[in-house]
Amino acid sequence: MLKKHYKLLVKCALVIPFIILVDLLGLLTHLCELDFDRHYYYPLHNESAPIEYEYLQLPSFTDNRNIAEPPRLTILVKSAVGNLQRRHAIRKTWGYESRFSDVHIKRVFLLGVTDESDAAHDAAEAEAKHYGDILRANFRDAYFNNTIKTMMGLRWASEHFNNSDFYLFVDDDYYVSIKNVLRFLGKGRQSHHNKELFAGFVFESTPLRHKFSKWYVSLEEYPFDRWPPYVTAGAFILSRDALLKMYEVGRTIPLFRFDDIYLGIVAYTAHIPVHHCERFLFHKMPYDGPESFSNVIASHGFGDPVEMERVWNELRSANYA
Ligand SMILES: *[C@@H]1O[C@H](CO)[C@@H](O)[C@H](O)[C@H]1NC(C)=O
Ligand SMILES: *[C@@H]1O[C@H](CO)[C@@H](O)[C@H](O)[C@H]1NC(C)=O
Ligand SMILES: *[C@@H]1O[C@H](CO)[C@@H](O)[C@H](O)[C@H]1NC(C)=O
Repeated sequence: MLKKHYKLLVKCALVIPFIILVDLLGLLTHLCELDFDRHYYYPLHNESAPIEYEYLQLPSFTDNRNIAEPPRLTILVKSAVGNLQRRHAIRKTWGYESRFSDVHIKRVFLLGVTDESDAAHDAAEAEAKHYGDILRANFRDAYFNNTIKTMMGLRWASEHFNNSDFYLFVDDDYYVSIKNVLRFLGKGRQSHHNKELFAGFVFESTPLRHKFSKWYVSLEEYPFDRWPPYVTAGAFILSRDALLKMYEVGRTIPLFRFDDIYLGIVAYTAHIPVHHCERFLFHKMPYDGPESFSNVIASHGFGDPVEMERVWNELRSANYA
């Protein structure tokens, strides 16, 4: 009698962890997903209070002040108040506006606010005044607020700096070859791409349902079995027409926690195709001399400004940056 109970107990003791594991791995969740092709819609919920923010600093050339001719490329760098050293390195390297005598380039850093001291706030203000390249608003700077930061860039470009041919959005821990960006875009005022260009490293993937993941997504948050195609948000390019349309459509669509998924949703809604180019590296490719990077447009993993500057200088000497 006792033995029988004991056996049952052992069985339960084995089954329960198994069920918990299945649940943690999200296997059951997958069964409940909706077919994207048949059921996709967005927004999912009807309680979307738009996030309000106010600009604290604007770039000095807002509304085309002091700008004689339209830029070929505007670089919008997603940064944070504390990353001053990265901004200094970027201004000297791939963010240098006068890199090419015949190509007009503008540079903007996108910032929010941190739990900052008055001193940090004053420093950001002084930096903005000195360089005139800071766009900063009073939303809290955090990983899951990156969508707000990106949309702030789209909004400012759309409403206040809308005559650039192309816009490059990039994180401040990237290496970028502006030379390869310009080559990718093509020569002259025209480009060999669609008028509506949204380009970068494209993913066609499915939501992560195992609960250990930093990128875990519940059915409540997103019930479908795949994402719309999306461009990784660390580095991507929009043509002027695509940017204006993305903002126009995006302003009516509630934000999503992940900025690259959100832009994918907006592009899907706006019928803007995403253009895949594997030379936008979202991981860090090992740097093994200039030849190894000759075709790279952008690479993640250069959060150390000293290393980034060294690599960029070598590549520039080799004529690849
Ligand atoms: C959202 O709520 C508003 C007002 O309550 C309503 O008019 C609208 O139809 C709702 N939209 C959806 C998609 O349920
Ligand atoms: C384009 O920019 C100008 C000034 O920079 C602004 O007056 C105009 O409203 C902008 N266009 C759009 C569509 O927002
Ligand atoms: C994002 O910013 C808003 C507005 O400042 C703030 O209320 C919210 O807490 C921030 N989100 C995170 C994850 O910090």
